[in-house]
Amino acid sequence: MDVIVITGTSGMGLPIARRIGSGHQLLLADIDDTRLDSAAQALRKDGLTVATRLLDVADPQSVTELAQQASELGFIRAIVHTAGLSPLMADAARVYAVDLVGTANIIDAFEGHVGAGSVGVIIASMAAVASPPEPELERQLALAPSAELMAVVSDYFADNSEMAYAVAKRGNQLRVQQAAIAWGARGARLVSVSPGIISTEMGRLELDKPHVAEMLRQTPMGRVGTPEDIAAAVQWLISPAANYITGSDLAVDGGAIAMQRAVGWGENQGS
Ligand SMILES: NC(=O)c1ccc[n+]([C@@H]2O[C@H](COP(=O)([O-])OP(=O)(O)OC[C@H]3O[C@@H](n4cnc5c(N)ncnc54)[C@H](O)[C@@H]3O)[C@@H](O)[C@H]2O)c1
Repeated sequence: MDVIVITGTSGMGLPIARRIGSGHQLLLADIDDTRLDSAAQALRKDGLTVATRLLDVADPQSVTELAQQASELGFIRAIVHTAGLSPLMADAARVYAVDLVGTANIIDAFEGHVGAGSVGVIIASMAAVASPPEPELERQLALAPSAELMAVVSDYFADNSEMAYAVAKRGNQLRVQQAAIAWGARGARLVSVSPGIISTEMGRLELDKPHVAEMLRQTPMGRVGTPEDIAAAVQWLISPAANYITGSDLAVDGGAIAMQRAVGWGENQGS
């Protein structure tokens, strides 16, 4: 059986696993063993074949061991990286370590194990749009060795986890774009998905902010996204129907970025 690896098992990870895991060997990974076991048990009850591994994406050795285990289980058909922290869950240093460096660790570690037909999907965020558009920062986020990324961002928003999250997520998009070249040389694709506010534990923390709820009301879709909206996008991205798509970011945000830009331009005020 081909292998599908999913990091992060609580919010988006579980519905993604349920949607794309059938007929494959699933390998779930999370830093939290209670969440990991509960997701594995739920999926096994649904008849899916599930292995688990404790993982800290911020630790390169832990990520290397995950990729090794996946490769020993069989051909890696897909790796979907949802593990992450929101700015309300950690300080800027930990947000950078998990969301920026952790994602770079995943891309690095799996590159050596993917082959023709493999697909990597990295969950970034619409928050990336708030990262400073500085060309040198963007070049470094895209290309600096993973072990040097913390030094790249050390001067940026060390006391502001919200902006650190924006920089980390922009880093995800840029790194996917550039790493897709090396993945392509192996016949594999690598893409990112940038969700808007999604109704997971992480998203609900954001929804508690009145301006976020108001922002959502104004979006073209007028509602919070569901984890199933993200799972549907991931299912399509890993399918043959998307086999000319690599290095790209897909916004799945109900039009939130479009509306933020319109408001910035003085359009749709108070609508
Ligand atoms: N929920 C939203 O509104 C939203 C919006 C945009 C982007 N995102 C991004 O989507 C992804 C998934 O978010 P979610 O809503 O499912 O979050 P979640 O908090 O529900 O789940 C994240 C999972 O990652 C795990 N995790 C945290 N740190 C880890 C580490 N160091 N190593 C391994 N696992 C770790 C957690 O234990 C948890 O199971 C994240 O990257 C997040 O930044 C979420």
